[in-house]
Amino acid sequence: MSAQPVIRFDDVYKSFAEQAVLAGLSFDVPRGKTLAIMGASGSGKSVTLRTIIGLLAPDSGRVMVEGRAVAEMNAGELSEMRRTMGYVFQEGALINWLSVGENIALPLRENTDKSDEEIRARVQDKLDAVHIPDAWDKLPSEISGGMKKRVGLARALVTEPEIILYDEPNAGLDPEIARSINSTIRELSETLNVTSIVVEHRLDCVRRVADEVLFLHAGKALIQLPPDEFFSSDHPRLQRFFGTHPETQNAPTP
Ligand SMILES: Nc1ncnc2c1ncn2[C@@H]1O[C@H](COP(=O)(O)OP(=O)(O)O)[C@@H](O)[C@H]1O
Ligand SMILES: [Mg+2]
Repeated sequence: MSAQPVIRFDDVYKSFAEQAVLAGLSFDVPRGKTLAIMGASGSGKSVTLRTIIGLLAPDSGRVMVEGRAVAEMNAGELSEMRRTMGYVFQEGALINWLSVGENIALPLRENTDKSDEEIRARVQDKLDAVHIPDAWDKLPSEISGGMKKRVGLARALVTEPEIILYDEPNAGLDPEIARSINSTIRELSETLNVTSIVVEHRLDCVRRVADEVLFLHAGKALIQLPPDEFFSSDHPRLQRFFGTHPETQNAPTP
């Protein structure tokens, strides 16, 4: 008997107007595991993550979280599910007029009835965890891109979620910061048994954090394998992707 996966895609289809983005996508993520999703730009990686938090509904097929179909949840159930989930947005999505500390506190203020004191302690704990202990009073406009990514990560962690979805957490970061973010992702999965999906182009990141790698192509999982087998695959589509995708080369960007 196998345990119920934390996240399950069962033959999911999603189109926008004439454009089929997901076309029969199926995969499972078991508890405590990290799945990396790779694929060309525009292949539907962010759409996949958005269907998990219920920001998009599939046209057909089912997206299940802890055995329950997200599209069938009512508003109360959906917000309850989101409380167990952290989401690191590709675009950062910090609120410009709130300090770093208040940006991170937001999910707690909106979704819990914790006291101000509890919230302050929790936020400081997450600032420490992403290695920016003194950033509370800064405004988003005053901090670097790498620091913004860390703030986004801290905000995703602040509710101490059981599931974390990372949308290109390392895009545009220099290798040193990327390595430290990767370590944080790995640490969370190992120490807290968090279940995660990481959308990522960089091979070094994927190697470091993923238990399995899924390659999204033509709306489906072309292949899903442990990193070693994935990277040694001689599948022509993967060869082409590794050969041509600039971010997979791991060269420092000028
Ligand atoms: N809300 C939306 N409305 C219309 N088209 C969308 C929407 N979200 C995504 N798309 C389209 O779906 C395709 C996949 O997008 P996305 O998942 O963001 O790709 P990526 O793999 O780069 O993350 C793109 O062509 C994008 O333009
Ligand atoms: Mg994307």
